[in-house]
Amino acid sequence: MKILITGANGLLGQKITGQLVKRNIPFLATSNGANRNPDCPDADYKTMNICNAAEVAAVVATYQPTHIIHTAAMTNVDACELNPEACREVNVEGTRHVADAARSVGAHFQLLSTDFVFDGEKGNYSEEDEVGPLSVYAQSKVDAEELLLKGTDHNFSIVRTIIVYGTAHNLSRSNLFLWAREALPKGEQMNVVDDQFRAPTWADDLAWGCIRICELNATGIYHLSGPETYSIFEIVQKVAAHYGYGTRSLNRIASATLNQPAKRPPKTGFDLTKAKNKLNYHPKTIEETLHLF
Ligand SMILES: NC(=O)c1ccc[n+]([C@@H]2O[C@H](COP(=O)([O-])OP(=O)(O)OC[C@H]3O[C@@H](n4cnc5c(N)ncnc54)[C@H](OP(=O)(O)O)[C@@H]3O)[C@@H](O)[C@H]2O)c1
Repeated sequence: MKILITGANGLLGQKITGQLVKRNIPFLATSNGANRNPDCPDADYKTMNICNAAEVAAVVATYQPTHIIHTAAMTNVDACELNPEACREVNVEGTRHVADAARSVGAHFQLLSTDFVFDGEKGNYSEEDEVGPLSVYAQSKVDAEELLLKGTDHNFSIVRTIIVYGTAHNLSRSNLFLWAREALPKGEQMNVVDDQFRAPTWADDLAWGCIRICELNATGIYHLSGPETYSIFEIVQKVAAHYGYGTRSLNRIASATLNQPAKRPPKTGFDLTKAKNKLNYHPKTIEETLHLF
């Protein structure tokens, strides 16, 4: 097994890279910028812009991976809403370039997708549920999925996940848990929505699941999230309780008051039955991860 990772500077990319280093599995980490992960040897890193089809084809043809885990994406949902062309270029056309390159060397292709493909009315979504994207970002992930689902090559998997959290080196963006851990002890005011429900995912569990899919050459759609669904407000309350931070600076608000450019699904969360049965995926609860930060 030789795994090529895209988006290796991102949170998930760094976690996958770290586990491959520890397990001595050969890999090539690629990302748009220079290597920002001190745990990834420079010899195993290559800069690769997924929007450049020729560059992607050349890197993949040279490395000849057996598997590609495609985590690279434009991930800021509001930035996608404000720049739909840039979002499409990275999330749809970029995915097309990487998937084409995978096909040309016979590599298994794994696409990272999102709970935002759903409209958030039902919650506890299974892999068979109908998608209903509410935003430009969500639509771009649906379109990327369809490149695979409507194609003739079935050597792929799609991994949908939800609020990924954890720590990594030099991240370009924060996540809910890092924000809470920074703001709460300082008593900074935090406006937190109580009408969106999610099953946050410990990044190490998700990375394990992505590698497991490679090991099993698993195909089709997999839902990999944390095991429990809570409101965002409840999630931040759990962080506060664990570290003994006061919650007086925590303000419970409705999503509508934020006036965010992109619409969010009110309630997601996943049915993990397939992942448990086929991958032996048993993710940690929030409480089981907080002492690991
Ligand atoms: N984080 C979540 O809560 C969440 C939830 C649901 C789904 N997902 C999906 O899971 C995947 C991984 O998420 P993440 O949180 O690890 O993302 P992330 O931390 O935002 O990292 C994404 C990485 O993509 C890379 N990238 C962006 N444009 C690129 C380009 N043109 N060419 C090559 N690389 C490019 C960036 O590389 P550089 O840093 O080198 O520029 C960045 O490090 C994404 O596909 C995301 O949509 C994430």
